[in-house]
Amino acid sequence: MAMNILIATEKPFSAAATSQMRAILEEAGHTVTLLEKYKSAEELHAAVATANALIVRSDIVDAAVVAAAPELKIVVRAGAGYDNIDLKATADAGIVVENTPGQNANAVAELVMGMAIMAARNKYIGTTGFELGGKRIGLHAFGAVSRHVVPKAKGFGMTVTAFDPYCPVEAIKEAGVEVAQDLKSLYSGNDFVSIHIPATAETKGSIGRELIGLMPNGAVLINTARKEVIAESELEEMLAERPDLKYYADVRPGNADVLVERFGDRVFFTPKKSGAQTAEANLNAGVAAARQIAAFFATGCTKFKVN
Ligand code: 3PG
Repeated sequence: MAMNILIATEKPFSAAATSQMRAILEEAGHTVTLLEKYKSAEELHAAVATANALIVRSDIVDAAVVAAAPELKIVVRAGAGYDNIDLKATADAGIVVENTPGQNANAVAELVMGMAIMAARNKYIGTTGFELGGKRIGLHAFGAVSRHVVPKAKGFGMTVTAFDPYCPVEAIKEAGVEVAQDLKSLYSGNDFVSIHIPATAETKGSIGRELIGLMPNGAVLINTARKEVIAESELEEMLAERPDLKYYADVRPGNADVLVERFGDRVFFTPKKSGAQTAEANLNAGVAAARQIAAFFATGCTKFKVN
């Protein structure tokens, strides 16, 4: 049966990605509507009113969006983290939620390395920096992005260690990565720590003084995950107490302006989250989302269901 598919992205996919997504969905007999760079929730509410399926990126799908979408059957978050989607409101309304795990992981991993070099070279202002070779990088969680960081960091001659209580130790070792005993030793034993945990009730505000304070002299904390996992006031305190520390993030903190004002040369925040903003990641995640929706309506497949 022909369905109405809405692609709603405040931060658009590349034109090539949207045209391939459209081709997949139209080939399957569906109608596609594109809502890009929208400025208000009301615009999304109006667009979703007749949608049977919705593809989003970090766009907020809360109870109000669900209420505005009486025909909605499935939401696919083209990406990994689905903390932007109200899982209860969608489940209560019988709406399936899926993500596209791993599809944009390489792009994010490349940004991690870019941030590591930028921090090591003092934002390229010409002062004496340091080399990545021989340094240690700790991966806080060992999911798809971390797995892509491993060969890149090793290519730079770095030692790679990870800690992930949800990943079997053997899987980390098989990837050629050392296993930290616990989170404290991950933070105390690495020159760089790269955060790859999702934002959940358990992880929100979990990285603060206790962990950041353990980092060795001259360490760099890189966050391409979610801003919510940082205890932001404690981060500010640590940057004040430890003039050797740096914080580089693709997820602009709530206190970004204060941090830039106080520690401008030691912090960096992308103006807009850009880890997954590559042509390749747009295509991988967008096409996967389109295929998942086509499969859902064709066969009822819900392989990537998260709610
Ligand atoms: C993800 O969870 O996949 C990343 O944070 C990418 O988010 P984006 O699609 O908003 O760039």
